[in-house]
Order: sequence, then structure tokens, then C-alpha cells
Amino acid sequence: MLDLAEPTTFAAGLPAFERLDGLVHCAAVGDLATMAETTVEVWQRTLTVNVIAVGELTRLLLPALRRANGHVLFVGASRSIHGRPGWGAHAASKEAMRFLADALRAEEPELKVTTVYPSGTDTPLLRKLREQAGVPYDPSAYLTPEAVAEVIVDALLTRRDLKDVHL
Ligand SMILES: NC(=O)c1ccc[n+]([C@@H]2O[C@H](COP(=O)([O-])OP(=O)(O)OC[C@H]3O[C@@H](n4cnc5c(N)ncnc54)[C@H](OP(=O)(O)O)[C@@H]3O)[C@@H](O)[C@H]2O)c1
Repeated sequence: MLDLAEPTTFAAGLPAFERLDGLVHCAAVGDLATMAETTVEVWQRTLTVNVIAVGELTRLLLPALRRANGHVLFVGASRSIHGRPGWGAHAASKEAMRFLADALRAEEPELKVTTVYPSGTDTPLLRKLREQAGVPYDPSAYLTPEAVAEVIVDALLTRRDLKDVHL
């Protein structure tokens, strides 16, 4: 398994795929911290896992994706997180991913490139962020991970060229 916090190790750690039909960028990290509290370490961890690892993994797998006319699917985040106190680093990283996906779509017209933008989803990450914000956590108020996964699988299987999918 790759450690996404160590993108320089990917080239040696990846199997040699001849063809790759789909690549899903879902893993991410996040911490709530105001700008005043966001240390260089938090910035580096957030941007490395959520942005740099995504770019590097895509770059290394492009030859196999091209051979299969494959599909790269990015899991972004709903814009509802923008402009909220404490969400700056996480939101900045997810927005960077949006632009990375848009650039890839323009550069590689033979690939399908989709970004799925979930709103709040009942996962350990959201639970942690709510705890850090000191607000109550009600799982029933959010999407289930299964519902988001179903949309991702449907997007990968469909022959339609979906660009942005907002949940
Ligand atoms: N939950 C939400 O409300 C919400 C809303 C919008 C978008 N999203 C997006 O949905 C995606 C999934 O988030 P989630 O809520 O499911 O978060 P999560 O519960 O924290 O899961 C994050 C996943 O990323 C993996 N990961 C983190 N750092 C890694 C590393 N250095 N190397 C390898 N894997 C690493 C974790 O693996 P381990 O378990 O092994 O640590 C875990 O599987 C993210 O892109 C997130 O931005 C979530």
C-alpha cells in the first residue's frame, strides 16, 4: 500500500499496469484550524496527501490509463465548506483538486475525467471535523458513504461523459 504522504516513493511502489480502466482519487486528510493555528506541518500534510499525491499518482498511471481510454474520478467536496472559519486548508486543497481535474480533462481528451462533489457524509473524517468544531454530530443528517460509493461506481460504469457530479 502506498503512503500518500510520501509521493516520492510512488514510482518504486506501484505495480507495472499494462492497462488501467479506472483510477479513483478518494483518500484525503483534513483538520479544522484557523489560519492563525495552521502550522506549516498541517499545510504540508494537507496539500501533500490531497493534492500532490493526486497529481503524482495520476502522472505515473497515465500511460496505462491512456492505453485503456480510462476514467479518472476525483472525489472533491461541496462548495459549502468554502469560507467557513477553520476550513481554509482543507477547502484550499479540495479546490486545488478541482483545477487539477479540469486541467487533466483538457489535456487528455481520450480519458474520461469526473469530479464527484459530496456534501457532508457520515465518515470518521466528518465526525472528527465536527468534534474539532465542537458541534454535535448527528449521522442521520448526512449522506451515507454507501450512497456516495454507489454514485462513484455508477459514474465509472456509465458510458456517458460526466464531468461534475454534485451530491
Ligand atoms: N466526509 C465528508 O463529509 C466528505 C464531504 C465531502 C468530500 N469528502 C471527501 O471524501 C473523501 C473521503 O473522505 P472520508 O470522509 O471518507 O474520510 P476518512 O473517513 O478520513 O477516510 C480517508 C481515507 O483516506 C485514507 N488516507 C488518508 N491519509 C492517507 C495516506 N497518507 N496514505 C494512504 N491513505 C490515506 C485513509 O486511509 P486509512 O484509513 O488507512 O487512514 C482513509 O481510507 C475525501 O476526498 C474527502 O475530502 C468527504
